[in-house]
Amino acid sequence: MDSATLVRELSDFLRIPSVSTLPAHDADCRRAAEWVAGALRRLGCREVEFLASEVHPVVWGVGPEVPGAPTLLIYGHYDVQPPDPLAEWVTAPFEPTVRDGRLFARGAADDKGQVFCLLKAIEGAARPPVNFRFLIEGEEEFGSRVLFDLLRREPQRTRADAVLIADMAYVAPKWPAVYTALRGLCYAEITVRTAKSDLHSGEYGGAAPNAHEELLRLLGRLKGPDGKINVPGLYAAVKRPSREELAAWRKLPFREAAFLKDRVRAKALTGLRRYSVLERLWALPTFEIHGIKGGFTGEGAKTVIPAEATAKVSLRLVPNQRLKTVERQLAAAVKQLAPKYVSATVTFLHGADPAQVKVTHPAFRLLDQAFREVVGRGTVPVRAGGSIPVVPALGQSGAPVILTGIGLPDDRLHAPNEKLDLTQLEDGIRVFGRFYQLLGEMKASRLS
Ligand code: BES
Ligand code: MN
Ligand code: MN
Repeated sequence: MDSATLVRELSDFLRIPSVSTLPAHDADCRRAAEWVAGALRRLGCREVEFLASEVHPVVWGVGPEVPGAPTLLIYGHYDVQPPDPLAEWVTAPFEPTVRDGRLFARGAADDKGQVFCLLKAIEGAARPPVNFRFLIEGEEEFGSRVLFDLLRREPQRTRADAVLIADMAYVAPKWPAVYTALRGLCYAEITVRTAKSDLHSGEYGGAAPNAHEELLRLLGRLKGPDGKINVPGLYAAVKRPSREELAAWRKLPFREAAFLKDRVRAKALTGLRRYSVLERLWALPTFEIHGIKGGFTGEGAKTVIPAEATAKVSLRLVPNQRLKTVERQLAAAVKQLAPKYVSATVTFLHGADPAQVKVTHPAFRLLDQAFREVVGRGTVPVRAGGSIPVVPALGQSGAPVILTGIGLPDDRLHAPNEKLDLTQLEDGIRVFGRFYQLLGEMKASRLS
């Protein structure tokens, strides 16, 4: 298939603003689910269904039955993150545009472009002898609660010889990756209340407590300038990577100076200086503030002492931390660090346990071979700083969960000007096509 047709088809998908976290986009999420369902029907799926469609539907598909062939479950997501700040996009987030061989749009790399790649690869490989199952959800960017419930209710539905997820990136250009761990996440709102209502800052300033000031002090206590998180017990369960793993990371094409200059594009890196940047990104917990609301932020000036302020924050979790434990630890820390005269509450919005994947199953060799043949280099094992909430649940039956992707490190996921390089997409279609073929040549019995 030529590049122009690929761009046209993918652009139809990318134009749908399926932002799962904003209720105003509920209908768009449904349209995106319908786009996926249409694509699955065109691939010849016998069964295409919307599951758990009270919220954003999970699209379920069953490919043509191939007796004796291995079963491959393909997981992906059609939802995207909010596109703001809009002013920073060179072209609008939901008007896909090609510049310099790159397709710019929200969702181009995370994850619509990659879902598209996995589906096109089936077409390209002329219907390989594999029993395909598809699970393409619309709530990944908001914690995947619906899918968790579904997997708990019907664990047998997603039984497979292998699970394939393309929602990640190469570790560097020309260096395909396979992921051995994902971080978990604990997303919360911390609200501080200091008085019954807002107060005149002249009449009361100097004697009354200020909610923003108290919240900022509390946040400042939760993480110090050295990057250490002051949540009692938080680091206790953290398992350091093995010496071999740390040594392997030192051989990766990753340079801290280039990471700062080209990717972070800031003046300095921060965090726990005793650890390498990769260890900070992949193997240590984080505490980030996403936004603070409350008080007066409109045009002009208002002299007021806010009585309430809320911060959206999250912690990333690493093996062997547990979401439930970290929730308890954060709530206790907030209680302990807030002064007695303020009310500080924590509300948990969503979260995920960290995931670890052993990459020894034979299916990983097939992916390695496919990348080697198409791109000229096999997969290097790395970890991800990001999270995919359902990965631990998808691996529960014992099937290998293959975490890989066709993105590049500079795709700017969740940020303005997200993009996907078209050569990555074209190579990816050939890689996964070859992977399906190799998998199809294996008897299902040799995979378990
Ligand atoms: N595709 C990402 C996860 C990812 C990003 C893995 C970068 C590896 C490298 C996924 O769509 C994502 O953004 N997940 C959210 C999950 C959360 C909202 C529950 C994340 O990590 O913030
Ligand atoms: Mn994603
Ligand atoms: Mn994402």
